Amino acid sequence: MINTTLNPVAVTKEVNKPDFIFDPSIRRDHANKYRTSQWYDGRGEIKAAEDGRSFEISATFSLKSEVKLVNGVLNPSNPVLAEIYKSRGRCVAVVDHLVDELYGTSLENYFKQNDIPLKTLVCRAWESDKNPDTVQKILQFLGKDGCDVSRNEPVLIIGGGVLSDVAGLACSLQHRRTPYVMIGTSIVAAIDAGPSPRTCTNGKLFKNGIGAYHPPVITIVDRTFFRTLPKGHIRNGMAEIIKMAVTDDPVLFELMEEYGQRLLETYFANIDADEELVKVADEVIYRALYSYMKHEGTNMFETYQDRPHAYGHTWSPRFEPAVKLMHGHAVSIGMSLGATLALEMGWVTKNERDRIVALCRSLGLSVYHEIIEDTELMLQGQKNMRRKRGSGLWAPLPTGIGSCSFADEVPPDLLTSAVEEHKHLCTSFPDQGQGEEMYLSDLGLE
Ligand SMILES: NC(=O)c1ccc[n+]([C@@H]2O[C@H](COP(=O)([O-])OP(=O)(O)OC[C@H]3O[C@@H](n4cnc5c(N)ncnc54)[C@H](O)[C@@H]3O)[C@@H](O)[C@H]2O)c1
Repeated sequence: MINTTLNPVAVTKEVNKPDFIFDPSIRRDHANKYRTSQWYDGRGEIKAAEDGRSFEISATFSLKSEVKLVNGVLNPSNPVLAEIYKSRGRCVAVVDHLVDELYGTSLENYFKQNDIPLKTLVCRAWESDKNPDTVQKILQFLGKDGCDVSRNEPVLIIGGGVLSDVAGLACSLQHRRTPYVMIGTSIVAAIDAGPSPRTCTNGKLFKNGIGAYHPPVITIVDRTFFRTLPKGHIRNGMAEIIKMAVTDDPVLFELMEEYGQRLLETYFANIDADEELVKVADEVIYRALYSYMKHEGTNMFETYQDRPHAYGHTWSPRFEPAVKLMHGHAVSIGMSLGATLALEMGWVTKNERDRIVALCRSLGLSVYHEIIEDTELMLQGQKNMRRKRGSGLWAPLPTGIGSCSFADEVPPDLLTSAVEEHKHLCTSFPDQGQGEEMYLSDLGLE
């Protein structure tokens, strides 16, 4: 017969306090001795309460993420990728389908010449593929029945922003956290989505609604990939550069005013560019990346809301999918409307607002779409974003060229009057503020 009587000694045993004092140096020693990754680190403490009935744990996680500008990364004599993968005995890569068509042979040749086995998943990554099914497909490739990637083996991701978002998310789920090296082959992926910790897939009504904070351990930016981008995608990526110029870097803004159109025409100084333009192209990429990572990279888990790089991205996540705009055009409409809102609030002068709108227009980026007149949709987008970002200061708006602050509240009346004012400005343009190739072109296979 089982004796169910509790052992009175165990129940009444007094808490032996010294047993509950945790020496943090033990964790430090263990962390150094048993460390699982060269990029990730962690520390923790546990404190027992006086009553012996509760305790509190605090832990910190730290990571290292490097960003490198490298031109000609797939040239077999370039050591960057070989140095990462040689010692690991192979490279497991997820590659955008179009990038594979254009660079697949060079990629294979690079690893062959460097005597490193390569396993590749070629993945179609259109905006319409940005869904949990694609994440699942990548997980199958990485998982036990596929390459069986270990939790410390950096996966190589090569492609645009859609692939970096979905494949980055798959890496965050593989073994709960698997490192990856990112080569962003579009401008958006090179300077923004690629190094970003925000991996994601689209939700039902809200873009990028599901995701995880999981930055690449190394981001390689190789401007020479831009030579094969369609011009529309060069323009699209320039919106993200303007975003950082307006909010953080007045020199970058002036460079874009002076050289933006030539950078667009020369596919970012890859075709018919002189030495001066090549230097400008490198400086523009570096400045945009540095500004972005200065804010995003030092706030990897978005524990602070001062995020200048969210400029142009406050209302656009709602209206971008509603009218199937290219991301950069949606952002530039968001930035231009935001500049007019900042003018209404007295944060920028008319001249500064006009310079922001003029720079976007000079590159063929949209500054207006009638969807922003749909007050219900705009307020719904604002409500969604507010819920996501939390209360307090939340919407970045310019306070001049190269600086920004964060609006606390944007009441419906203020938003509507800014839209009215912005519409008034844009109807004075011959094209009403429309951009070139502003709509997504990958809709056919949705
Ligand atoms: N996570 C973030 O912080 C973040 C930031 C910005 C944007 N994004 C996301 O990024 C996506 C947009 O990224 P995108 O503009 O790179 O779009 P994309 O990934 O759709 O790439 C654009 C197109 O260019 C092709 N392509 C890529 N590199 C090429 C090259 N070198 N030559 C020829 N074709 C090439 C791709 O196959 C695709 O057809 C959006 O979904 C957006 O939400 C995420």
